[in-house]
Amino acid sequence: MVRMMSVKPTVLKLGGSVITDKEKPLTPNLEAIERLATEISRAKVSSLILVHGGGSFGHPVAERHGIAGGFVDSSQILGFAETHLAMTLLNSWVMEALISRNIPAVEVHPSSCVVTKADRIHNMELKPLKKMLKMGFVPVLYGDAVLDSKKGFTILSGDQLVSSLAIKLGASRIIMGADVDGLYTADPKTNSSAQLIDHVTLEELKSLKHKIEGSKATDVTGGMLGKMREVTFAIEHNIETVIVNATKSGRVYKALKGEEVIGTIIEKG
Ligand code: IPE
Repeated sequence: MVRMMSVKPTVLKLGGSVITDKEKPLTPNLEAIERLATEISRAKVSSLILVHGGGSFGHPVAERHGIAGGFVDSSQILGFAETHLAMTLLNSWVMEALISRNIPAVEVHPSSCVVTKADRIHNMELKPLKKMLKMGFVPVLYGDAVLDSKKGFTILSGDQLVSSLAIKLGASRIIMGADVDGLYTADPKTNSSAQLIDHVTLEELKSLKHKIEGSKATDVTGGMLGKMREVTFAIEHNIETVIVNATKSGRVYKALKGEEVIGTIIEKG
């Protein structure tokens, strides 16, 4: 007997900097992975898709072999395979944490079901994913090395996957689990008057972007705004998006439950 789900899915991204130790190559942050798996299990979301990043698994290997730049010489072919392997190793830690907490998680490898064209998702086999959701599985995808019809291959970010899946599968909301509390009015590392923005529209985000770029913000806000570029596509489709700090206990749980949580909500406006 199966339980059929007809509710709109929620897409949750777990950033690579949350689930890995960014300083040490190929090192998972098991404490974070296990805590997040517990939060996901406790939240009991009826239709959920999970996407995770690469952190210290995918990024250094992909960089070493120039995978994001596309095919240049045949030595990269092994590099592509190594990048994908690194991601499946990280994915295994995530899968084990989820399944051991009774979450019916099934990994969907992007390298096997996505072809990009000049870095953008062009073909994606969605049938198994849709069927999984209907039956109550939790599909788990991740940023991966994928084949590209123009460049030979490339790196597909988890953020592009989040946005594209949310649109194609008619998600109700996106939760971006990051390593910062959300978007700030300025870079909180260099500007003590920087304030966390709890609610912003796409229009306001554009002016904020100019302000922050003008102030030469470093990673914290600049990096987040880069990520925002991808989710903007989903927000334009009226998919509400919230950024929460997944390194802090309970934030992802609250966001999944739709409870009030410290973070930034972005709406079309
Ligand atoms: C990157 O995925 C995947 C690879 C480098 C293979 P993401 O771009 O989504 O990863 P994070 O969240 O920034 O680490």
